[in-house]
Amino acid sequence: MSNSGSRASLANDFERFKRELPRDFPSHVRDTYRIDLSARYLGQRLPHPIGKGSGQLSLSSGQLETDAEAGLAFAVLKTVIAQDAAGDQSMAAWAIHETKMKVERRGAGWTVTWKGRGWDRSFDEYLALVRAGRDLSRSGRLLAVPSVKYHLPRLDEPFRDAEYAYTTRELATAWDEPPLPLEKDFSPTLAGDRLADEKQQILRWLREVPQRIRAHADARLSMKLMNARFDDDFQREMIDAASSADALVVFNRLFDLQQGVAYGGPELSDRNLRVLDRPSGRQAVRPSLSGTGNIHSGRMVVEYALRGCSSVQLHTFFQLPLEEYPATDGSRTQRALHALVFDPRDGLIAVMLEREAAGSLERRGGELHFLDLVPGEQR
Ligand SMILES: Cc1cc2nc3c(=O)[nH]c(=O)nc-3n(C[C@H](O)[C@H](O)[C@H](O)COP(=O)(O)O)c2cc1C
Repeated sequence: MSNSGSRASLANDFERFKRELPRDFPSHVRDTYRIDLSARYLGQRLPHPIGKGSGQLSLSSGQLETDAEAGLAFAVLKTVIAQDAAGDQSMAAWAIHETKMKVERRGAGWTVTWKGRGWDRSFDEYLALVRAGRDLSRSGRLLAVPSVKYHLPRLDEPFRDAEYAYTTRELATAWDEPPLPLEKDFSPTLAGDRLADEKQQILRWLREVPQRIRAHADARLSMKLMNARFDDDFQREMIDAASSADALVVFNRLFDLQQGVAYGGPELSDRNLRVLDRPSGRQAVRPSLSGTGNIHSGRMVVEYALRGCSSVQLHTFFQLPLEEYPATDGSRTQRALHALVFDPRDGLIAVMLEREAAGSLERRGGELHFLDLVPGEQR
C-alpha cells in the first residue's frame, strides 16, 4: 500500500477501533501497514514498545489480567520495599499507605499527585502477585516485572546485605525459572530525601547495587533512575555510573521540594529528552533504555525512541478521565493503546509513516520497523 493509502486506512481503523481494539493489534498493523512494531525490554522481545510503569495500576492480578487482555506489552509491578528474613525494612519510611490520587492538568499535560510510596501490604501478598505476573509472562500474554526499593546506605555505611539477600531470593523463587526480570527503583521521593543530597553517594549506589542484587539471583536488572536535584550533566553521570545494569529506565518523575510531591507533565519530558540528547559514555546497546515521563502520544514514544529507548513505560496516560480518550468503549488500557497507536495525526503509525514520507525512516524487507528508530539497536 502507498503511504497515502496507508493514511486512509489509518483514519478508518482509528474510527472503528474506538469501539474495540483488537487484542493482537500488532499483527493487524503488520498486515495492513507493513509496519513491525516489535520492541525490546530487558532482553525480551515485545510485540510493541508500550508498557505500564510501576505504580498504583499494577497492584493486583486483576489489573494485570485486564492489561494482558488489552494487549499491553509489559507491566512493572508496584515497588515493594525490601526486607530481611525477620521482616525488617531499612526503607520502611517508603512503605506508607495513601488512598487518594488526584489527576490534574499541569501545563499542556497531566500529572498525578499522590503522597503514598511503596507497596503497603505484606511481602507474602507481593510474592503472590509476582507469581501471577510470572504465569502471564510465561504464557506470552504480558511480561510482568517486579520492582524493589532496597536499602541505600550513606557513604560511610555498608549495604545491608541481609535485605538484598532475602528479598532477591524470595522473588527469584517466586519467579521460578531464571532469569528473574527486576527493576530497582530509585524514586523521586528519594531524590527529595536528605539521603540524596550528595552526588558521590548516589553514584556509589548506581555502581554497586547491580552486584549486590546479582550476588543472590540470576537477575536481569533494570535500574529506574530518579531525576536527581542536580543539573543535566549529573543526570548523564548517573547513566554512566549505572552501566553494569542490563537496562535503565529514564527518568522517574521530578520532585517538588516545597510541596513534598513528585510530579510529571511537560517539564518532565522536556528534562528527560534534553538529558538523553547529551553525549555520554553509555554503550549503544547495553544497558538498553526504557523511556518514562509524560508519554501521551505515539509522537512522544518516537521522541524517546530516537534518543535510545527501545520500550516505554507510562503511568499518567493510563489514568486520565475517560472522556479524554477518543475511544468510546473498552478498558482504560485499551483506550490508551488505541490513541497511542492509531491516532491519525500523533499516533505511532502516523508518525512512522510521516518519517517514511520525509525520508528519515526506510523500509527494510518491505517493512518499517519501530526498532529502526532506535540508534544502536541490534537488528
Ligand atoms: C501515583 C503514582 C505512583 C507511582 N509509583 C511508583 C512506584 O511505586 N515505583 C516506581 O518505580 N515508579 C512509580 N511511579 C512512576 C511511574 O511508574 C512513571 O515512571 C512516572 O510517573 C513517569 O511516567 P508518566 O509521566 O507517564 O506518569 C508512580 C507514578 C504515579 C503517578
